[in-house]
Amino acid sequence: MRHLMSPLDLSVEELDKILDLANDIEAHPEKYAHACAGKKLATLFYEPSTRTRLSFEAAMLNLGGSVLGFSSADSSSATKGESVADTIRMISCYADIAAMRHPKEGAPMVAAAKSGIPVINAGDGGHQHPTQTLTDLLTIRSLKGRLSGLTIGLCGDLKFGRTVHSLINALVRYEGIRFVLISPEELRLPDYIREDVLERNHVPYTEVVRLEEALPTLDLLYMTRVQKERFFNEEDYVRMKDFYILDKKKMKLAGPDMLILHPLPRVNEISVEVDDDPRAVYFKQAQYGVYVRMALILTLLEVKVC
Ligand code: NCD
Repeated sequence: MRHLMSPLDLSVEELDKILDLANDIEAHPEKYAHACAGKKLATLFYEPSTRTRLSFEAAMLNLGGSVLGFSSADSSSATKGESVADTIRMISCYADIAAMRHPKEGAPMVAAAKSGIPVINAGDGGHQHPTQTLTDLLTIRSLKGRLSGLTIGLCGDLKFGRTVHSLINALVRYEGIRFVLISPEELRLPDYIREDVLERNHVPYTEVVRLEEALPTLDLLYMTRVQKERFFNEEDYVRMKDFYILDKKKMKLAGPDMLILHPLPRVNEISVEVDDDPRAVYFKQAQYGVYVRMALILTLLEVKVC
């Protein structure tokens, strides 16, 4: 039985297979409409979510399966003091696969150790968010045609943004990737990723504060919101929250093929006037999230569709 805690739980070959499957699902959705008939997905969300939870549920429904779960810790027995280890033992009796989001780093891993069914990490604190990474990789590969030879700008809250942490882990395995890390001093990428992932893998990167400086050099800009819920005090958040605002004027500095991705939700960091720019692909990215979660569910449940 396999779980997905980090993108590194999948080899590059396995990842390619999941992305190929997701592209086939996009092209022939009817082939997969009953692939998970009789199977159940549990969504165990101890932290708010719109896209991740609903795209998991849509994915399972598109496969002909059904879903059950809770969407906040308040509506689960966590309020009575139940541990995630005990909860997953119960859920293993009710469902075939589970997706778990938790504010504590490592909680899905604790659950996986006690689980009788595959567990997918749907975001654990500021740590990892592997299914967002699958979504990002599918978006990049489908729209750019490759996952190698790209200069990628990561902008915003690089300290607490788990989507950025997972994406870096996944992308360093491809040839010719270079990163431009764009953040205020206080929200720089943590040392454990800079040193243990970028430097250890000899991946070139630069760090800049000004977005304008980076824009002309990028193949892809990955914007993120400042992660309000991970700040210790409100003042620091208020000071940081509008540090970057990508607008039409700044987009003039970018190349004609520079894609803009964002895991969403967007707050103020991308002005709505940018949404009509053909380079803005963040809503399309959310659609890819459904296909890739379908592919992941099929893979972890070992369901083959001919
Ligand atoms: C992200 C998350 O939860 O980390 N959202 C998502 O899953 N698409 C990004 C965010 O909340 O900023």
